[in-house]
Amino acid sequence: MSDRLHTLSGYFHEYQKSVAQPEEFWARIADSFHWKKRWSKVLQWNFEEPDVRWFVDGKLNITENIFEKNLYTLGDRPAIIWEPNESHEEVRTLTYRELFVEVCRFANALLSKGIGKGDRVIIYMPMVPEAAIAMLACARIGAIHSVVFAGFSSSSLADRIQDCQAKAILTADGNYRGSKKITVKGIVDEALEKVSVETVIVYRRTGQETFMQSGRDFWWNEVLEGQSEFHKAAEMDSEDLLFILYTSGSTGKPKGVVHTTGGYMVYTKYSFENVFQYCPGDVYWCTADIGWITGHSYIVYGPLLAGATTLMFEGIPTYPHPGRFWEVVEKHQVNVFYTAPTAIRALQAFGTEPIEKYNLSSLKVLGSVGEPINEEAWHWYHTHIGKGKCPIVDTWWQTETGGIMISPLAGITPTKPAYATLPLPGIQLSIVDADGKELHGNSVEGNLCINFPWPSMIRTTYGDHDRCKQTYFSTYKNKYFTGDGVKRDHDGYYRILGRVDDVINVSGHRLGTAEVENAINEHPKVIESAVVGYPHEVKGQGIYAYVICDMSNRSEENLIQEIKETVSKIIGPIAKPDKIQLVPGLPKTRSGKIMRRILRKIAEGSLDAMGDISTLLDPEVVEKIKAGRK
Ligand code: PRX
Repeated sequence: MSDRLHTLSGYFHEYQKSVAQPEEFWARIADSFHWKKRWSKVLQWNFEEPDVRWFVDGKLNITENIFEKNLYTLGDRPAIIWEPNESHEEVRTLTYRELFVEVCRFANALLSKGIGKGDRVIIYMPMVPEAAIAMLACARIGAIHSVVFAGFSSSSLADRIQDCQAKAILTADGNYRGSKKITVKGIVDEALEKVSVETVIVYRRTGQETFMQSGRDFWWNEVLEGQSEFHKAAEMDSEDLLFILYTSGSTGKPKGVVHTTGGYMVYTKYSFENVFQYCPGDVYWCTADIGWITGHSYIVYGPLLAGATTLMFEGIPTYPHPGRFWEVVEKHQVNVFYTAPTAIRALQAFGTEPIEKYNLSSLKVLGSVGEPINEEAWHWYHTHIGKGKCPIVDTWWQTETGGIMISPLAGITPTKPAYATLPLPGIQLSIVDADGKELHGNSVEGNLCINFPWPSMIRTTYGDHDRCKQTYFSTYKNKYFTGDGVKRDHDGYYRILGRVDDVINVSGHRLGTAEVENAINEHPKVIESAVVGYPHEVKGQGIYAYVICDMSNRSEENLIQEIKETVSKIIGPIAKPDKIQLVPGLPKTRSGKIMRRILRKIAEGSLDAMGDISTLLDPEVVEKIKAGRK
């Protein structure tokens, strides 16, 4: 039985079934996978704790469902096509059979270094096929991977190593990003001055001079020497941890979102096939980095479980020219293209000339992810990239949801610009007001919640279950709270309005305002700071920081520069504030709480509509901040 939807009426029919009989619905989908032992119970759940278990007692290995299950039929099909940073450098293509051999060899190499089931392994790597091989090899032996985006600083990396008590780090000597050659191992070394791991395995990408600590650091090719091309997959419980992925929240410290094996496997394949309507032989390209959940679910696991050909791109959209994406589409005859609104807006700024040089007729489906796509960008994408004939799937989801929750099904669900449209079958949404009252019917607006479990949902935050409970399951009783505002229009279509908590979304990257403030406050001259998001033409949201500083012996210009560098060093360049305003004070209530509402208004330039400021300790400070607005 195929779990693929083909028509709109089929979608509505399946949706009804998924709500009326969720266990039957998911059991049918899960039955198309290879289980070493079938589950005894489809679902056991309780949102109070929360305690959610899918396919209870089921035994499996996710990589067997990528390889062994498909090898006879897919062996010679390309699994990964790798397009390097430089277009003249050689493309690498790994068939399913070749990828399987590489995964097995690396799995054996990990075992030979004493890494095994349950160990945490940090992957801090550029966009090379070895990054995917590393993830799959961990899954093969039952080690828990935690990929850290290679743009994060040494101190962010150290925090993550510490939090998950990693045993090993898989990394590379360096990374090519556009015209830059970036040291990667050097950052790992800096992190390892603060925390320690037993083993570091280093892939040679740039060939730059690299420090190797004897007994701890090993070259990738050397650990592979003599390793067998077969590894018998470890038997995993459905609820064994597959990976941890750190993401920002409203408090200072990023949290380790935990995903488990069985449910994540079922949901990523199911959502991949249905949303993109992937057809065998299509070339699929998701431009995300594997350091984010999009890379996990829709570069690696979802596509490979579906036997797809997934393209991995090492470079950036504008190097060596702003037509690079379209050059790659033509070169590899890409059929499905999935990117972020921020990339679309950045490329839109170059006009249509860079597009016209390339033949984009292979494209069938376009996707968008990571942040709300504005109508202008949607139309530009539809007209100039899709030539008016490709459906756009605006996919709403989160690190915590593991897979796409709300999205059109390509070519099936009628689209509406800037709308993520309808939930996938199996996803039971609700909209609640501030008091938690569910708003029924259409034409309503409120906070987006999910009422019922789905297989790829977050299970816990690593090492701190209470944080998971407080963040997602305590705001509204018996509901998972997403942190997003949403509108359901007169057609019942969903439009995501953005975060309602202290999380900002910069170029599709999630950052907590408190996290950025903590980094700013590390500068010795900083007394206090407050960070808010503001609308940014390309990035979606920009970071606006209001900072109280000790100005002695420093010029304003120098201080601002130094603060930016501090943030870059502590978190990474993605968190560098776009605007820093040095202020004499912050708008605080008598109880000392910063009124961010006011700071947001000033940052976005709505200077007249301050609302009630009478409860402020010092209302005059507002005028002073307004006068110095950047
Ligand atoms: O605010 C929503 C926004 O990104 C947040 C999740 O961020 P992250 O966990 O980093 O995952 C990003 C990739 C899935 C959400 O809470 N977001 C994601 N997709 C959309 C979106 N906002 C609007 N429309 C989307 N399609």
